[in-house]
Amino acid sequence: MTIPMILDCDPGHDDMVALLLASRHAELLAITTVAGNAGLEQSTRNALVAAQLFNLNAAVHPGAARPLIARSAFPPVLHGESGLDGPVLPTLTIGPSPITAVEAILATTRRVERCWLIGTGPLTNIALALRADPTLADRIAGISIMGGGIAFGNITPSAEFNIWVDPDAASIVFRAGIPLVMSPLDVTHQLMVTPAFGQRVRALDSSIAEFMADLFDTYATRYQDFFFEEAVGPLHDPCAVLALTHPELFEFRDMAVKVATGDGPARGATLPDQRHSKLDDPANVRVAVSIDSDAALELVIDAISAIP
Ligand code: BDR
Ligand code: CA
Repeated sequence: MTIPMILDCDPGHDDMVALLLASRHAELLAITTVAGNAGLEQSTRNALVAAQLFNLNAAVHPGAARPLIARSAFPPVLHGESGLDGPVLPTLTIGPSPITAVEAILATTRRVERCWLIGTGPLTNIALALRADPTLADRIAGISIMGGGIAFGNITPSAEFNIWVDPDAASIVFRAGIPLVMSPLDVTHQLMVTPAFGQRVRALDSSIAEFMADLFDTYATRYQDFFFEEAVGPLHDPCAVLALTHPELFEFRDMAVKVATGDGPARGATLPDQRHSKLDDPANVRVAVSIDSDAALELVIDAISAIP
């Protein structure tokens, strides 16, 4: 049975791939947007670009323009001011829904039973929806997020971007008692786009393939500028979708994970209880720890090829 899902995102190069895979392998009911990689206006515009290019049925619902407790944002170095630097963006022929992200999450989950929420950006919208209607927790199947790091961070030594932007929202989600699947940096850094992968995509020889290849090439180059010796980029966000649609590609470990809120060097860190003692907290998160990256990349190729 195809999994019904709402994808809450901040596109974002890798969010685009998450949207593409969700449309191919799940029942994508709604797309909600949040400020993160770029401002809310750009996130929403980019989600509309995805909806238009990939012929998605799901409406795009704008959400939170800032974290629950607003703080300074990180300069948009990886995805650029546009959130989607690289390809030429098409002129939009569709627009956003007048229904907000929180309204869409609440209404859709009332209409469709056992829906999953996928979070590939800061978790502000999901936290706001849980606050607006705590019974949301009882009617969804769970939440699958790309976020956090077990062994390392990317924005600070200990914090990953999505959690760091809004740790208060993330903390609400991690403490909600909802089945939670987490794809941290430890697993997303196993799923790399390389120049060779970009060439394979370009060779598919369609306008979508060219768009995606431009996206991948820019993304990998930006990662080389800021992180790596080579032009390779981690496809973080697709992992949050694939962890549900293709769990056989992953190895998971149940862990007790807390989010560090407040100021200080651990702000935004996801802290796993790894004491391995009788004192350990009960597990609240299913953490993806490894992925069959070759198989996952084939799914990306397949999804791009499937767009006419
Ligand atoms: C996360 O932050 C963004 O750069 C990506 O879209 C991903 O969701 C990785 O830390
Ligand atoms: Ca993202």
